[in-house]
Amino acid sequence: MQHEKPACHIILTGDRTTGPLHLGHYVGSLKSRVALQTTHQQYLLLADTQALTDNAHDPARVRNNVLEVATDYLAVGINPELTTICVQSHLHALADLTLLYMNFVTVARLERNPTIKDEIQARGFGRDIPAGFLCYPVAQAADITAFKATIVPVGEDQAPLIEQTNEVVRRINRQAGHDVLPEARALIPLVGRLPGVDGKAKMSKSQGNAIPLSATPDEISDAVRRMFTDPNHLKASDPGRVEGNVVFTYLDAFDDDPAAVADLKARYKRGGLGDSLVKKRLNEVLQAVLAPIRDRRRALASDRGYILDVVKEGTAVARETTDATLREVRAALGLFSLD
Ligand code: TRP
Repeated sequence: MQHEKPACHIILTGDRTTGPLHLGHYVGSLKSRVALQTTHQQYLLLADTQALTDNAHDPARVRNNVLEVATDYLAVGINPELTTICVQSHLHALADLTLLYMNFVTVARLERNPTIKDEIQARGFGRDIPAGFLCYPVAQAADITAFKATIVPVGEDQAPLIEQTNEVVRRINRQAGHDVLPEARALIPLVGRLPGVDGKAKMSKSQGNAIPLSATPDEISDAVRRMFTDPNHLKASDPGRVEGNVVFTYLDAFDDDPAAVADLKARYKRGGLGDSLVKKRLNEVLQAVLAPIRDRRRALASDRGYILDVVKEGTAVARETTDATLREVRAALGLFSLD
């Protein structure tokens, strides 16, 4: 197992289990996780407890997506021999640490967290913010520190959560009088975030503008056909805009022939290149990217027992690590022990 890798940086990241993963996750994080697993000790957290903080009214959704997300991980090439895949709700030390850390964080600080502020707005909570939601940054600090992760690959929007984690770490270490927990660093992907097929800034299942990793060939072609281009590019002969044109953004992200893409862009800008030709190329590119993932996904989905075993084993390994950290933190703070 991965415990034999040389002790270096520990990586932890995770996904809320609210829906299957999509192309935005693939370019933004999944691809780099597949690369990182060969050089680092890596844990992936199926964040079902965090998913409940804004889905308490729909527990079935959260439950059903735990193995869906795990299937996505395996389908893109996460290797359970190299990466530990574990379920948040079954790691009780995370809940204990969350409760402990709550005493080292103020409500005012949580309310000022830019990620939380944006998300409260987006969800229209107004004053009726679930306490669990307001406190999820504390739980995320528990996730990160329980694994003693020093690198946390996340989207840019999550950077304030890592900052808040490090504040908790410093407070705990100060109280303990020595460094019981390490600080962590956010690893933000260099590639920009993939826009939705409708041109909105973010691809998201809830916005209906995502292409899931499990998309069928027809669903891919449909999405490409609907894709936002340049609304002023009415005739093929018109000069077109490449900036903000989703088709070109996707070609930049997925086409492995950048010279050909540059050539298409030049022709499009000059005028004389119709949307349908560019879309035809993108369709071919996306079909080629997703076909092997979909095939692996289908083969895996027919063996639910295997996925369950992977997650069970990963959770057992993660339980040892997180329980050990909880014991260490409690001891460092001088808390009561029956031993
Ligand atoms: N907040 C992350 C998201 O919304 C999921 C997550 C939960 C996470 N715990 C984590 C990410 C710990 C990194 C580290 O996608």
